[in-house]
Amino acid sequence: MGAGKPSKQHGDSLVLGIETSCDETAAAVVGRDAAGRGRILSNIVRSQWEKHRAYGGVVPEIAARAHVECLDAIIGEAMAAAGVDWDDLDGVAATAGPGLVGGLIVGLMTAKAIALARGIPLIAVNHLEAHALTVGLTDGIAPPYLLLLVSGGHTQLQLVLGVGRYERLGTTIDDALGEAFDKTAKLLGLGMPGGPAVEKAAAAGDASRFALPRPMIGRSEPHFSFAGLKTAVRQQAQALVPLSTQDVADLCAAFEAAVTDVVVDRTRCAVKMTRERYDSPAWRTLVLAGGVAANMRIKAGLTALAAAEGCQIFVPPPALCTDNGAMIAWAGLKHLAEGRTDPLTLPARARWPLDPDAVPAVGSGRLGVKV
Ligand code: KG4
Ligand code: ZN
Repeated sequence: MGAGKPSKQHGDSLVLGIETSCDETAAAVVGRDAAGRGRILSNIVRSQWEKHRAYGGVVPEIAARAHVECLDAIIGEAMAAAGVDWDDLDGVAATAGPGLVGGLIVGLMTAKAIALARGIPLIAVNHLEAHALTVGLTDGIAPPYLLLLVSGGHTQLQLVLGVGRYERLGTTIDDALGEAFDKTAKLLGLGMPGGPAVEKAAAAGDASRFALPRPMIGRSEPHFSFAGLKTAVRQQAQALVPLSTQDVADLCAAFEAAVTDVVVDRTRCAVKMTRERYDSPAWRTLVLAGGVAANMRIKAGLTALAAAEGCQIFVPPPALCTDNGAMIAWAGLKHLAEGRTDPLTLPARARWPLDPDAVPAVGSGRLGVKV
């Protein structure tokens, strides 16, 4: 297809983004105009939950095979929904890490094949960076800002200084917040994925019925810990067996209230640290990202915090908080705009920290080890 087609406007750069790092197979076409504004032309996400449900969690081998089975079709859907064809693309971006390496290889190899066949650049995207930069696509927000990234595999507070430039302020010393939601859902017999199931059950619950701990509150560094909280939920649940629907709802509400208090306190600590220790204007803009940012109670807690601290808060819509191809395409476009592309020899990386120089948190069991 050529010029004059409505989907590709003059001066736009178009990138196809591919996401296969965990249990969502996703592809999207995103445009970036000469002024740097983003536009989502298509965004197709297929969840694999049905395939993993019987196992109570994501099985890496099943995830990789499921990506192989449907990725070609998802890419075809994304291209068709965008109304573009291969000649319109200025690049192809794929998540190269961090994540489950089998799935990463499926997406990255597919992107390499497209890049080679079409003679367009490959951009290898860090999944965490894609979450971190999504507000640029949704709200036009540019760094510097303070990022709270809360997903199934990560819980971090980062200073976002620019594309590819991050300074980690806080991280979890054990479970990620999304993982804590998923494990809580599992032990209470709720469906997968756990976060939305816990949120739904909590809506009918009384948070004050159970006293749960608030790990790390008041600590001077903005780190997190959720393993003890999950154990406390288990103990309360075991004391009540068999659980009624109301018991489950009350436990979910108490869990949500506890994690919200923790997240708000830790973020307050990071805002203060950014303002006082780093003397950076980044504290004025608080950005939420990752699947857990879809949670209404956590969002409300952080919105109140932002109002109290005098900063602005930005949260992408839920469909762009959870894993998707649009965020990968957008991160690819940002790198492409700065002239950064990758060789076809680039390997997938199961581990790929945003800030490689960050010192492991005390208590993480990784002291002295770069992660
Ligand atoms: O960012 P994401 O889609 O995938 C990863 O990169 O990990 O995040 C998935 C996580 C899961 O743990 C899921 O349970 C959680 O985000 N999640 C939520 C909600 N929606 C998704 N957690 C709490 N409340 C929600 N509404
Ligand atoms: Zn994610």
